[in-house]
Amino acid sequence: MSSSPSTPKPSPSSALSTPAALWRLKPFVKPVVWRLAGGAASALAAAVIALMIPIVLEQIIAGPVRSGEVSAIVWGALIVFALALGEAVMVWLRRQFVLNPATEVEYQMRTQLYARLQTLPVSFHDRWQSGQLLSRMMQDIGLIRRWLAFGLVLLVVNILTIAIGSVLLFGWHWLLGTIFLVTAIPLWIRGYLFEKRYGALTRRSQDQAGDLATSVEESVHGIRVLKAFGRGKHALSRFSRQAETLRETEMSKAGAIASIWFWLDLMPQIAFGLSLMSGIWLISQNAIELPQLFAFFAMATVLRWPIESIGFLFSFMLDARTATDRVFEIFSETNSISDPENPVHIEDPRGELVFENAHFRYQDAGAHERDLLDGIDLVLRPGETMALVGLTGSGKTTLTTLPARLYDVTGGRVTLDGVDVRDLTLAELRQHIAMAFEDATLFSASVRENVLLGRADLDVHSEEAERVLREALDVAQAAFVDSLPEGVETIIGEEGLSLSGGQRQRLALARAVAANPRVLVLDDPLSALDVDTEALVEEALRHVLAETTALVVAHRPSTVALADRVALLEAGRITAVGTHAELLKSSRHYRHVISSLEAEEAARTGAIPIISQDAAEADDLEDAEAAFAKEGDLPEEEFITEEEVQA
Ligand SMILES: Nc1ncnc2c1ncn2[C@@H]1O[C@H](COP(=O)(O)OP(=O)(O)O)[C@@H](O)[C@H]1O
Ligand SMILES: [Mg+2]
Repeated sequence: MSSSPSTPKPSPSSALSTPAALWRLKPFVKPVVWRLAGGAASALAAAVIALMIPIVLEQIIAGPVRSGEVSAIVWGALIVFALALGEAVMVWLRRQFVLNPATEVEYQMRTQLYARLQTLPVSFHDRWQSGQLLSRMMQDIGLIRRWLAFGLVLLVVNILTIAIGSVLLFGWHWLLGTIFLVTAIPLWIRGYLFEKRYGALTRRSQDQAGDLATSVEESVHGIRVLKAFGRGKHALSRFSRQAETLRETEMSKAGAIASIWFWLDLMPQIAFGLSLMSGIWLISQNAIELPQLFAFFAMATVLRWPIESIGFLFSFMLDARTATDRVFEIFSETNSISDPENPVHIEDPRGELVFENAHFRYQDAGAHERDLLDGIDLVLRPGETMALVGLTGSGKTTLTTLPARLYDVTGGRVTLDGVDVRDLTLAELRQHIAMAFEDATLFSASVRENVLLGRADLDVHSEEAERVLREALDVAQAAFVDSLPEGVETIIGEEGLSLSGGQRQRLALARAVAANPRVLVLDDPLSALDVDTEALVEEALRHVLAETTALVVAHRPSTVALADRVALLEAGRITAVGTHAELLKSSRHYRHVISSLEAEEAARTGAIPIISQDAAEADDLEDAEAAFAKEGDLPEEEFITEEEVQA
């Protein structure tokens, strides 16, 4: 579990200013900008109405209240009531305006991010934890929606409200206005300091939430392993440690918010106290009238919420900024595996697959390390079945990922019918080359949809699709699907019916066959099948494969023996190519690999005779043959284990 890649480093986006960072949302916001503007206009209207109330009050007190004119007082009260009602309507209107566009932005961002995750190469997914992707996809984008829906609008409107209000305050008396503004200055300083601290904390907490999601994902995925090894407790303690770390970060965030709130609460009180004292003094000096003082306090009350909310809205903006950074870190990943500018088209491929001095190294390989694939030269003739054999960890799986460009070579090239695979569009390339892997991944869908996954060209319920489906299931010996509760319409995969490893592999194989490719790349797709079923599959494959070029990684000597030729992968190179029999005779390393495969097989089934150590280690043909002759009557204790072979 600990092998998962660590949280990616923050990208240079964190060097952007907050407005610049948020400006990147522009393409998503553009289509809905008018509705957002409508929301801001309603909010501003609500604020202006609220600001009018103190002015109306001032007039009422200065006029009718003083003169004691009752009907005028009633009228005044009605006007204030109407204003309050107008404000409420505007607030409602604001909500109506912003709800739809914000969810639209959320939807667009989410689908585009998903599309992005689909196009980014496998090497990207090697580096990124699934939980990080999950939390960015769900949590961060949700936060951006909430911020657009009201954080942004309120921030703009509240700043405008404060500006207009302050001007009005100064209109009543400069001293009162000054007190009001001067007491706001410490707030803004605190706010700035707060921004710095809170921004870092937010980033940390959002990353930690991603790590936590990764843990949940991994342990749900690996629940059997955890249970089987009794590691549930261990996983729990690891999880609770992570959860605790996140809690601590959240506590620090809450602490930061609490301290800013302290100032937000304190300063207006001080401002009120100071204004009250100066107001009374100003009245005693006849410098201001009572109605103005009254209106001043009414206005200060109206402004109090916008001023207080500024701190919250700033922290909200920082949250949104961090979320935007996190989302754009994915958007700005360069997609190293994409369509060429001037794609070549192969009209009717023959299926000749050639590795020409192909090199490959994983990104995280140490600088001093040799390339994992260190100059692969290999020619697969059209229609030929080539087995690829090598010790565990020699790079067989890696080699199989190169033709379909799950990874790109880091040197040399791979060609299909003489065309560099990088000169074809990915869509065309993957139409020509289909793959099946050892760990057969199925999706939550029917058997039919899973098998026909590679046939976007077919309507899955057409007759043609039915024929393709049946043929593929036949080849893969997957007749078991007919005894599933709903036959090929049975939903399988994570949320559907659970299948055995062998059943999954057969469906994955059927999927590769159904794609009807020119080249089939199979990374040990039969490992979980019993020997008899495997033989049947191979028999069927040979008929189908008669037309199809196949590169098959095999872990069973019996599978290897079925191939037209065998390629031996050793120390990053293909060191021998020939038939199984030829290689057994000519290559000592080949005998060594085959004997270790047999040892694995023996360990699995317990009863398969193996090549003796003598044969594996024999230096020349005579010795090897002599050793083979003995192999039928090997006593049990002479069976060798893989460790011994490798030792
Ligand atoms: N995604 C990856 N990132 C980094 N190293 C990897 C990755 N996949 C495999 N490796 C390393 O590359 C080597 C070859 O692995 P692999 O191609 O799976 O070998 P094989 O299929 O022959 O057993 C191993 O040492 C393995 O640890
Ligand atoms: Mg492998």
